[in-house]
Parts: sequence; structure tokens; C-alpha cells
Amino acid sequence: MTKLPERPVFLKSAHLLGVSDLSPLEIPKLLDLADIYVEVNRNADKRHAILSGLTQVNLFFEPSTRTQSSFEIAGKRLGADVMNMAVSTSSVSKGETLLDTAMTINAMHPDFLVVRHQASGAVELLAQKVSCAVINAGDGQHEHPTQALLDALTIRRHFGRLEGLEIAICGDVFHSRVARSNIHMLTKMGAHVRVVGPSTLLPSGIDKFGCTVFHNMKDGLAGADVVMMLRLQLERMSGTFVPSQREYYHFYGLTEEKLKYAKPKALVMHPGPMNRGVEIDSSVADGAQSVIREQVEMGVAVRMAVLDALSRKGHNA
Ligand code: CP
Repeated sequence: MTKLPERPVFLKSAHLLGVSDLSPLEIPKLLDLADIYVEVNRNADKRHAILSGLTQVNLFFEPSTRTQSSFEIAGKRLGADVMNMAVSTSSVSKGETLLDTAMTINAMHPDFLVVRHQASGAVELLAQKVSCAVINAGDGQHEHPTQALLDALTIRRHFGRLEGLEIAICGDVFHSRVARSNIHMLTKMGAHVRVVGPSTLLPSGIDKFGCTVFHNMKDGLAGADVVMMLRLQLERMSGTFVPSQREYYHFYGLTEEKLKYAKPKALVMHPGPMNRGVEIDSSVADGAQSVIREQVEMGVAVRMAVLDALSRKGHNA
């Protein structure tokens, strides 16, 4: 069985609502802990009992495959009692509000609430009303901090560092909480971030977050160590952001030809779910440079590290 560190990781913040809850000193410690959980998860026996007696409730108001299942697996592997609330069959369908739902769950004394919600800021609002640790599993277009942590872990395991790397985040940045959290995380850790996409899909003032803006893939990918593709989030679009998906693919879809603009061994990443043939070609998504499946593996380890660290109450980093 893989040994856990004798000195646990403590976080200053009681919640993980956004990347700003993590200091540049805490992030490497969390990633080191996640590295240990990667080894734990590759063992035949993956269990550790550090969350034994604690209760984790997953409250997802938006669909999820990766985040919800990996939080459930993470909690269970650490010995927590995990409850996935089926929002569609809950009293939310009768009109109960987010806050009333949260207060109802809170009365059952959970230790962790893992929340995904379609409204930016909803998870932070909820955290002010409950007495347990709240983890943001994605709120609207705002943040998805555990996605940024798992992406950082994936990159660090390949390059041994984040500092100084050239990272291109491409596509629908405007609607992407993944992009926002990754820009905060990667710039905080000293990487150079570029955003690449048509002006309709890049928020105005994005350069103020410390990244460089490109409107074509050739310039944006030149010399990149990492090419992170984003899903075209059609469900969040009201109005026309791109002339057609076919045209979007022609200019911004990652193909083997466009990938050649980046460094020869550049990593290809995507948070999922992918629109194959829209933002990424299957030959690249499944190709030798793709680490998309590895990102999923890192997701379980990172979420175990976050649950572990947030369970160490009463301590300061
Ligand atoms: N990356 C991500 O958040 O995927 P899910 O929507 O499947 O959780």
C-alpha cells in the first residue's frame, strides 16, 4: 500500500471556490499530495481511511461525467460516505431554491458539499450559508478550480515544472470556466499563457489577466509546449458567435497540420467532453501527443488531495 505523507497538507481557506483560494505555496503542496494519490490509485487496493466517518454530498445542477464520478470515486477511496443527490428527481423540480436545498442538506451535517451550478457565483453564495467545506465543481462561466489543478498536475508530471512553459488555450474562452481557472492557475505558477480564438469567443479585457491574445492558430501555437483545446459551448450561446461549425473547424479546429505549429512534443489537452470534428480532430484527440485520458486519471487524484487537505480543519498552511 502506498504510504501517505506524515505531514498532511493544510489549506488556509475552508472552501475551494476558485483558484484565488489557493496560494502559490499551497498549489505545489496539493500537487505533491495528488502525485501520491496517483500511485495509490494504481495499486490493487486503493483505499485509505482518512475520511472515515465523514459525509460528502455531491450536488450537481448541471450534467457531468468526469467531475461527478471522480469526486464520488475520490471520496469513496478515502473512506467517506458519499451521497450523489439526483437534482432532477429532487424537490428542486418542485421549485425549491438553491439556498433552501443547500440549507436542507446542511441540516443533515455533511462535511463536504461538492457543487456544480449553471449560475456564476452560485457556489460562493451557497458556501456563505452552510457549515461544511464547499468545493466548486464548476459554476456557470466563472470557475472550475479542480479542473485547473488536474490540468496543472498533468502538465507538471510531463515537464517537471509549470514555470516558464508556453501554454496555448484555444477556442471558446468566453464561455469557459475551465479557461478562467486555468489562466489564474497557470499565470500564478509562472507559466506564459496565450489565448487563441476569434474575437467573438474571447472576453474583452482578457489580456489584463496576464495572457497574450492571438486570433489565428499559426501564431498562437508557434513554440507552444501545451495546446489546450476548449469545447465550443453551444448550450451557453444566445446568438451567433461563429458563422458555422464547419468554418470554425477550418480556422480553429486542432488538426495534425495545425499541431505542427507547436513544439514537436507539445502536449494536447482537452477538459472534455469533446466535440470531435468541431474543436479537435479525432486523429489528434487519440494521437501520440494527446494526454486527454491522463487528465481524467489525474482528476481522481487531485480530488482526493483536495478532500484530504480540506478535511484537516483547525490548521493553517
Ligand atoms: N471537464 C469536465 O468538467 O467534465 P464534466 O462536465 O464531464 O464533469
